[in-house]
Amino acid sequence: MSTSIMNSVLSTSATSAAGLPGLPGFPGFSGFFITGTDTEIGKTSVTAGLTQAFQQMGRRVAPIKSLAAGQVQNADGVWVNDDVAQLQAAQTLGLSMDEVGPLQFREPCAPHIAAQLEGRSIDRVGLLAAIRATAAKADLTLVEGVGGFRVPLTPDWDTADLAVDLGLPVVLVVGLRLGCINHALLTVEAVRSRGLTLAGWVANTVDPHQPHVADNLSALRARIDDALGATCWGHVPRLPDPSPAAVAAHLQQPALLNALKALKA
Ligand SMILES: Nc1ncnc2c1ncn2[C@@H]1O[C@H](COP(=O)(O)OP(=O)(O)OP(=O)(O)O)[C@@H](O)[C@H]1O
Ligand SMILES: [Mg+2]
Repeated sequence: MSTSIMNSVLSTSATSAAGLPGLPGFPGFSGFFITGTDTEIGKTSVTAGLTQAFQQMGRRVAPIKSLAAGQVQNADGVWVNDDVAQLQAAQTLGLSMDEVGPLQFREPCAPHIAAQLEGRSIDRVGLLAAIRATAAKADLTLVEGVGGFRVPLTPDWDTADLAVDLGLPVVLVVGLRLGCINHALLTVEAVRSRGLTLAGWVANTVDPHQPHVADNLSALRARIDDALGATCWGHVPRLPDPSPAAVAAHLQQPALLNALKALKA
């Protein structure tokens, strides 16, 4: 990746911890933290779809891939991460790749290992400051996590801690496949045990051949919507082209409006 302002921000540890988002002294921002039941289950597709849906509702949306591991060189020789490219393409604020992807690594593996391979460290304060700087350009920020809810970032900091530091309500993308009820409920438990609010969840069709989808959805609704009051924001089918517009078409506008209202409350 080219040297960037964001990465130079991240390479310095000079920022004071007193200035962290979610902590006293740091102006918070409005948005959601998007997590998932696993890696490769549709967090980015859903985040891009939410970006489109909220933009259509008149919001100025900054989608951010908090940490991205895995870059390929494009035709111009620039190292690009696919999640960052998708989210950057979905937004209309003119954010740069570095603003959408403030911390990127080459190797497609767990971020703490990818960082180690490059002899870099993951700087908590710098990352939070970079996310905050991008969020300041928007009125709604969607921060995509990494993999599932608890991915290690440093020896004593993981992606659940990142969500707590950001102070954002969580949206859970449930990748519909065998085992997803267990993964979803474990994740919901972990979100709540951190004192975070589960704002909503999105069912995304990972396995188009999964049987009993309606029964799986009603089991999830009974244990999440009915028990916790966190509504399902939509059920995205397997799409021939999961573009932001195609995903957005399966998100429920009333649920999104309610979630925006709850942010203000
Ligand atoms: N509803 C869908 N229909 C068809 N393809 C989908 C759908 N949702 C996601 N995909 C595809 O599945 C793959 C994984 O999706 P995505 O990249 O959004 O997952 P992720 O959870 O963000 O993964 P990561 O953990 O790497 O960030 C992508 O190729 C994406 O285009
Ligand atoms: Mg992703």
